[in-house]
Amino acid sequence: MATESFIIKVNRTEVRVTTDMSVAAAMMMAGEPCRISVRGEPRAPMCGMGICMECRATVDGRKHQRTCQVMCVPGMEVVTE
Ligand code: FES
Repeated sequence: MATESFIIKVNRTEVRVTTDMSVAAAMMMAGEPCRISVRGEPRAPMCGMGICMECRATVDGRKHQRTCQVMCVPGMEVVTE
């Protein structure tokens, strides 16, 4: 079965993704951190299964989404927190 590819926005970067990719994977492809810690450190996905909360980002205006648990959809906009 063919996988559909499309563009989503991660911060200001456009990334080509497929329907079987998580938003966390798209953020890594874009080279963007998911969030910035209170000490100013860029944070990225760690567990990949919804437990560590390191992959939180704003997805289509919804804050604190665990991006490893959200699949990419066309037109999506993701912003680092
Ligand atoms: S990578 Fe751990 S909750 Fe998403």
